[in-house]
This record gives sequence, structure tokens and C-alpha cells, in this order.
Amino acid sequence: MSNKKVAILISGGGSNMVSLLESMTGDHPARPCLVLSNNADAGGLAKAAAAGVATAVVDHRPFKGDREAFEAELVKPIFEAGADIVCLAGFMRVLTAGFVSQFEGRMLNIHPSLLPKYKGLHTHARALEAGDAEHGCTVHEVTPRLDDGPVLGQARVPVLPGDTPDTLAARVLVQEHKLYPAVLRRFAAGDKTPVQLA
Ligand code: GRF
Repeated sequence: MSNKKVAILISGGGSNMVSLLESMTGDHPARPCLVLSNNADAGGLAKAAAAGVATAVVDHRPFKGDREAFEAELVKPIFEAGADIVCLAGFMRVLTAGFVSQFEGRMLNIHPSLLPKYKGLHTHARALEAGDAEHGCTVHEVTPRLDDGPVLGQARVPVLPGDTPDTLAARVLVQEHKLYPAVLRRFAAGDKTPVQLA
């Protein structure tokens, strides 16, 4: 069976993207085919290029809020690369139902909370404000609703006395880098059984 091709969408530093790239070697059932960003300044682009992975940029700004027009361009390099699976990894644009439906059942996202808690932004501050004893991250299948869709894996971390949003985010990010590769490996092999870490 041939390897699945994975396109990874980023907006920033791309540390989750790097952890995915590094995982796709040896007997892994997938290989990266593209790293795509909406932001030409995304630090992750240089990291992907250094790893020998094709990169592309589709800047959302010229589209001035016309999501459909932006997505009509965004989808082109993904199709050209022949991606079987699309991984959102810190991709900070909300996607329309029309875009998502083109990748139904084969698009994943990582979100820094224990979904269904704290969809959207500022998840670490919100977990602290709520006085939660634990926090974490989730990889899920992408559906048209933001940060929704079947959960494919979760990893938990304790909230410690004195935590700030930054210290908590750093603890969660360590787990993100373990969880996302673990889920992708299983998913690419056709297994949607949720991964539980910690
Ligand atoms: C991660 O916390 C991810 O969960 C969130 O954005 C952050 C991206 O970090 N959606 P990176 O670009 O992967 O370093």
C-alpha cells in the first residue's frame, strides 16, 4: 500500500508542523507533500523548506474578508500536491463549510484545550480563570463548526499553582508535539480510535 500524502496548513512558527514532519519517516503510513501558509512571514515555512518539503503561500489579505475567494486559491496547491490528508497546525483562518466539505473525513486540527471545553481563542487563560485542575489539547476531525468534530485524541496536563497562560501553554505544547504525530500515524493507517495520552 502506498503512503498517504499529507498537506499541513500553518500560520505561524509551525512547531506542531515540525513534529509532524519529523514523525513521517520509516514505517509511518504517510509522507508530507506540502506545507501551506496564509502568511508569507510564518516562521514554519523556512523550517519546512529546510526539511526538504514543498511550501506555498496564499495570503488571505488581498481577499479583504471574502473567504470563498481566498479558499478558492488556497485549495489549488493542496489539490496540485495530491494531498490525501490535510492537517491544520496553528492555521489561524476560519474555514467555510464549502472548503471543509471538500476534505470531509480527511482533515484534522489540533486545538489547545480539552474539547468540548474552550473552543476558540485564549484557551489557557480561560482554563485558569475557571480554576480547572487539568487542561490539555485535542486532535479532532474538522467539520464546518469551529473546533468541533469527532475527537481523535487528547492529552492532559495538570494546572499547577502559579501558572500563567504562558507557562500553561508551554506545558500543553509539549503534549501537542506528542499527540498530533500519534494521532496522524493512527489516522493515516485508517484507524480512528481515539489516542489518549497522560
Ligand atoms: C498551538 O498551540 C496550536 O494548538 C494552536 O496554535 C498553536 C500553534 O503553534 N492552534 P505552532 O505554530 O504549531 O508552534
